[in-house]
Amino acid sequence: QISTLFVNASHGSGRPIPNTLFGIFFEEINHAGTGGLWAELVNNRGFEAGGRQFLSNIDPWTIVGTESSVLVQTELSSCFEHNKVALRIDVLCDKCPSHGVGISNPGFWGMNIVKGKKYKVVFFVRSIGALDMTISFRKAQDGEILASSNVKDSALEVSNWKRMETTLEATASSFNSNLALTTTQKGKIWLDQISAMPVNTFKGHGFRSDLVEMMLQLKPAFLRFPGGCFVEGKTLRNAFRWKDSVGPWEQRPGHFGDVWNYWTDDALGYFEGLQLAEDIGAAPVWVFNNGISHTDEIDTRVIAPFVQEALDGIEFARGKATSTWGSLRASMGHPEPFNLKYVGVGNEDCGKLNYHGNYLAFYNAIRRVYPDIQIISNCDASLKPLDHPADLYDYHTYPFEAQRMFSNARVFDKTPRNGPKAFVSEYALIGEKQAKQGTLLGAVSEAGFLIGLETNSDHVVMASYAPLFVNAHDRMWNPDAIVFDNNQAYGTPSYWVQYMFRESNGAIFLNSQLRNTDLNSVAASAILCHNPQNNSTYLKIKIANIGNNKVKLKISLDGFGSKIGTASTKTVLTSKNALDENSFLDPKKITPQQSQLKSLSNEMNVIIPPVSLTVFDMLR
Ligand code: AHR
Repeated sequence: QISTLFVNASHGSGRPIPNTLFGIFFEEINHAGTGGLWAELVNNRGFEAGGRQFLSNIDPWTIVGTESSVLVQTELSSCFEHNKVALRIDVLCDKCPSHGVGISNPGFWGMNIVKGKKYKVVFFVRSIGALDMTISFRKAQDGEILASSNVKDSALEVSNWKRMETTLEATASSFNSNLALTTTQKGKIWLDQISAMPVNTFKGHGFRSDLVEMMLQLKPAFLRFPGGCFVEGKTLRNAFRWKDSVGPWEQRPGHFGDVWNYWTDDALGYFEGLQLAEDIGAAPVWVFNNGISHTDEIDTRVIAPFVQEALDGIEFARGKATSTWGSLRASMGHPEPFNLKYVGVGNEDCGKLNYHGNYLAFYNAIRRVYPDIQIISNCDASLKPLDHPADLYDYHTYPFEAQRMFSNARVFDKTPRNGPKAFVSEYALIGEKQAKQGTLLGAVSEAGFLIGLETNSDHVVMASYAPLFVNAHDRMWNPDAIVFDNNQAYGTPSYWVQYMFRESNGAIFLNSQLRNTDLNSVAASAILCHNPQNNSTYLKIKIANIGNNKVKLKISLDGFGSKIGTASTKTVLTSKNALDENSFLDPKKITPQQSQLKSLSNEMNVIIPPVSLTVFDMLR
């Protein structure tokens, strides 16, 4: 018997897929933002990362000079109320070396400085005596100067901090450079909040353009942020609290994210998350802390301040520019409200002691003030109804077996349709054996799952892969969709699967059926997509095969019309071996390969390669 995919493309058949279905989830994990998407080059710019108990720890800053020429120490003497640690430099040499003494910062595993590009350096300083400093980017290996600027001020006072700014243009390139602040003049200098940013960032908003472009390629309908566990913290003390992440960057306290174990200056804060969503045309989905971390919880009886914090956060995003929190947003350069319509009450906290009580306190307060906001519960309603009100419920799945990921496509088949809708905000195949750092097999199993989500998109209205980013120097979590270091980036096969599903939002889901095929390894969907360029529709058929054998398949189209356009294409994501991966050495090993569709008929015989995702785009 011949394996067949029947597709009913008759006019008026099918149903719309929500235009929110596929989006992205950005978490501050794996140095995704700090040392990644956020283009800041300086690591620990305010010397706060050591914490107040370990004042002298200025890591990763290093001292330029010898013990006899320079003394460097931290003090609680900053002009910034919420980040009091500042650096004092005592220049001891009468005749200092010509390259100067001072401090140097290696950034996040080296700074990427590119010839011809401009960099803005801002710092806060006070001194005894006139200031004469050299700000330079230097090659780590041999100290070669890549860019340099001299900053002088004879009117500096010891009691008054001054903001200084200079722009450097690189005359040579290196992706392993440092930022040095040095002087040859004896005296005392205090420094704080030293920032170095490329002048050109995405829309001038501080994001690394190459990484944003990769996000944009996925055409994400929404952006969930900023976590994940990052929002919860291992302890509440170290959880992400939005109020600490807004306002002028130099005044933000920063915090140690104790789940993913690194310091962040919170330069990519709540405002920047909202800005990023707007910049990429995605609906922001803000996840806030609900008074619960991985190890401690706030009792529901005293949750009110957290509830107020969430309400204030919504006002920050949506309030008028004259409102208390809206005015802070306006002062940051965004007088118009952000389009915040979704909030997540915590992350993966449903089983915790106080979740239900806390959730209801948040739900009732938000519903009262913002009746249009879609409130997302952490509790799973895929098998049984929720015992509390919610607009959406958050569903996470991280199987270890590709077969399990693939079969998860059916998870929502029997879910009652009268409760809240599903938001699959985190999904991925994980595990060293099959998923490694991002295998083809893992990605194809996810494609099978996504076909299941399309099929159930009358109930599942949003879905995002997790995590989105990994800085190759800090792999806290494998696999991830986009791998980068300071000068390059590539998509894992899971990224390319999402890319191949990017036209599903708002498309028409058609009835289709696979017959005489092993449904444990093959899944298919058919959708009608709109091409805004010529206002036409085209048929997109996706077939995922996690099996080790090729599948001979007949595609039988009903109601599509007898003529199939010659511009129709076939796009295949596959490789020699199921466990093949992309890498910096071979970043395009597994990427979608497009070719002209040869058989242009309503009854097409096609071959689906082993472990592959194949997409047919059929034009009329
Ligand atoms: O995506 C990585 C982590 O997985 C998220 O922080 C958390 O929500 C989940 O456990």
